[in-house]
Amino acid sequence: MKKPVILTGLRANNDLHIGNYFGALLPLIDMAKNHAEDYEINLFVPDLHSFTTPIDHSALQRDILNNLRIFAAAGLPIDHDSVHLYRQSYVPAHSELAWILDCFTGFGELSRMTEFKDKSAKLGAEHIGVGQFNYPPLMAADILLYGATYVPVGDDQRQHIEFTRNIAERLNNKFGDLFVIPKSVQEQHAFFRKDQGLRIKDLQDPAKKMSKSDESGKGIIFLGDNPLEASKKIKSATTDSFGKIDVNNQEQPGITNLLQILALTSGRSTDAVTNEYNGQEQYGPLKTATADAVSSFLTDFQDRLAKVDDARLMAKLEADEKQMNEVANTTLLRVQRAIGLRS
Ligand code: ADP
Ligand code: TRP
Repeated sequence: MKKPVILTGLRANNDLHIGNYFGALLPLIDMAKNHAEDYEINLFVPDLHSFTTPIDHSALQRDILNNLRIFAAAGLPIDHDSVHLYRQSYVPAHSELAWILDCFTGFGELSRMTEFKDKSAKLGAEHIGVGQFNYPPLMAADILLYGATYVPVGDDQRQHIEFTRNIAERLNNKFGDLFVIPKSVQEQHAFFRKDQGLRIKDLQDPAKKMSKSDESGKGIIFLGDNPLEASKKIKSATTDSFGKIDVNNQEQPGITNLLQILALTSGRSTDAVTNEYNGQEQYGPLKTATADAVSSFLTDFQDRLAKVDDARLMAKLEADEKQMNEVANTTLLRVQRAIGLRS
């Protein structure tokens, strides 16, 4: 029997940050390290998604390679036969299935996506690119072509997973069993042993998520940040004026964020970190501990990044892209036949 597929994609439109790392990359890599025998593990760069927001096109090739190197440095066992690494645009079936899914997607359905609503509230809908509006069907194609069951993503992407389930069910109902339906977001959290999706906040504005599309970069810890600069960013993080750490206080998002970053970068449990700092009347010690943890996390990570073997990585990529074209084309042909494009 075919093994269940775990799949995720990380866009290469800038350096990745710790939100991408801990929210999306690490859960998948942990599975690849510990359970590659039991699952197929697909990690890809959705390079066609790069253009949903404006980017520096001359840096795209460099950024894609950087992403792939980050996957290796984060511990992806690239020599394992069940681990698959590829670039979306090298498997043309993604674009073709996306178009087909488009034709079964309602305009209203995409208009209700939070990300689209937030962006159009800010910029006006007429200034949103059609690609930005329409990327959920491409994301659904990325997932459905490989029959993925588990798709670890950060909390901001949960609506797109729900969309993927809906469109897959819609086509299955109309045309028979075409697609594997990915697990619901709740079931996915249970699988990855989390009670909710991770959402690391911007250091300057803890009401927002840390996002690489943020221009100033001051609220973001990039994986490529100089460790000293990164610890400065932590030390100047926005907190509040309560003057006491109270983990039950919902109005301390900056403090909650620092506690979470400290737990993640030091490898300690959130409970242990929370118990240590709860009730303290100074924020300085928490900031110092978090700054130190972030700085040593980055030093260690960048050491590993420098040691990645590019030739081995490229060989893996080429072999996997060939193999993934076969897998994706099999699904695509099934869909083409069902909808009447092929006999
Ligand atoms: P960004 O918003 O930084 O451009 P992407 O949209 O490319 O990030 O997201 C890549 C992956 O990282 C997605 O699975 C997303 O849910 C996850 N992710 C992004 N930002 C965060 C965050 N602040 N905390 C946790 N996960 C995040
Ligand atoms: N849309 C995701 C993001 O912005 C990236 C992505 C594209 C993705 N295709 C995917 C994630 C398929 C998981 C599965 O972060």
